[in-house]
Amino acid sequence: MTSTPRLGVNIDHVATIRNARGGDAPSPVRAALMAEQAGADGITAHLREDRRHIRDDDITALMQALTVPLNFEMAATDEMREIALRHRPHAACIVPEKREERTTEGGLGVAQDQARLAEYIAPLRDAGCRVSMFIEPDPIQIAACARIGAPVIELHTGTFCEAHLSGDTARCDAELARIATGVRVGIEEGLEVHAGHGLDFETARLICAVPDIAELNIGHFLIGEAIFVGLTEAIHLMRAAMIEGTA
Ligand code: PXP
Repeated sequence: MTSTPRLGVNIDHVATIRNARGGDAPSPVRAALMAEQAGADGITAHLREDRRHIRDDDITALMQALTVPLNFEMAATDEMREIALRHRPHAACIVPEKREERTTEGGLGVAQDQARLAEYIAPLRDAGCRVSMFIEPDPIQIAACARIGAPVIELHTGTFCEAHLSGDTARCDAELARIATGVRVGIEEGLEVHAGHGLDFETARLICAVPDIAELNIGHFLIGEAIFVGLTEAIHLMRAAMIEGTA
């Protein structure tokens, strides 16, 4: 039996709500500490180029306040690398980023940009950050991540979650099989495999049936669910779904 993946809680959308009114509330750091108390294994925050949710001062405050690891999501730009090297978070997850997108659409094209990305991640790795590459569950991209020396990959679960929501079980099964193959290829390449994007209780439960995933990163659904049941209860319910799925 494999163990239940770690749960990383993404607090970006606490900052989205805060920024809607321009003040300091609700505080992403308060949410992160509450998530930590509720048993989150890590906190994820994405500092976007346009600072639409998390801001630079949030990263500073999170680095000071957290006792669990911070997973710093970032685009592969010079500005973000400079910020990451200043803070040295536990993990740096490299994601594709487009200004016009609503959320991170699709994974990185690592195979197409191998030489630049190998050079880009080297200083982060040397600084002790655990670098992960956010990619589609595509064996070509997975092999490219291993070649550039990234120790971790995070597989994009967005297409699987969309298939699940659509009620198309054949497509949903096919997407889950694609993720399972991706996890296997990643493990064979010697990588640690994470997964995330768009997960809710049901899709997280289904994903946990795939062996050898080390971590799930979940944000939007948990913050939305917190409105109805509170953040602590939402995290407890998510953990229960993940344990059920693993069993
Ligand atoms: N993992 C990565 C790399 C992401 O970019 C995101 C979204 O910021 C997530 C996980 C979490 O996705 P969601 O907010 O849909 O749960």
